[in-house]
Amino acid sequence: MNLYDTLMKPLEKNVLGGLRKMIIPAASGNVLELGYGTGANFQYYNPASVRSLSALDPRSRPVARTRARFPIRFVQGQAEEIPFPDGRFDTVVETLVFCSVRNLNRSVAEVLRVLKPGGIFIFLDHVKPPEKSLSALFSAMDVFWPKIAGGCHLTREPDRLIRSAGFRIEKSGTEGYGIFHWGIGRKI
Ligand SMILES: C[S@@+](CC[C@H](N)C(=O)[O-])C[C@H]1O[C@@H](n2cnc3c(N)ncnc32)[C@H](O)[C@@H]1O
Repeated sequence: MNLYDTLMKPLEKNVLGGLRKMIIPAASGNVLELGYGTGANFQYYNPASVRSLSALDPRSRPVARTRARFPIRFVQGQAEEIPFPDGRFDTVVETLVFCSVRNLNRSVAEVLRVLKPGGIFIFLDHVKPPEKSLSALFSAMDVFWPKIAGGCHLTREPDRLIRSAGFRIEKSGTEGYGIFHWGIGRKI
């Protein structure tokens, strides 16, 4: 287990693991996962529904390969410039990545581009907390947090952008004082 997994363990046990288990099995057909990190989602894909899985990240993490339960095509790249043609995928998955992409608008536009019409986007992000004092704390921390946490911002609201970008949100919810927001959107 690497440092990221060790630090994330309590959060995985209490919040994230349950959310991953609920949303990732909805992936089907040709699937692209953005920012796969250490491969925390890999165990939750349903091999009976997934025809192919491509996993993209700017950094290659060898530990992810040990978690693959079926063949995965690992690709180096960025969400802002996905190296696949238009309409290539039935499903795109993104968990805890949109907090740290350099250009969120561009990344959402790229997800839309590589999805087939009617394809689904499964996402899970931490967002700016709805509660006022927590929101103020996150805003104050956001001054230094990206510098020590790999560019991770604490005040983004990708859920709002995804809704307005051209997805019909079919399922969504929040957990952990509204900090974690998940959804399944269909490309209109
Ligand atoms: C907090 S980790 C999340 C990893 C994994 N998705 C999860 O749910 O545990 C963020 C990941 O996003 C990747 N990442 C950062 N910027 C990215 C970008 N522009 N495009 C794609 N992935 C990116 C990082 O390399 C890292 O693996």
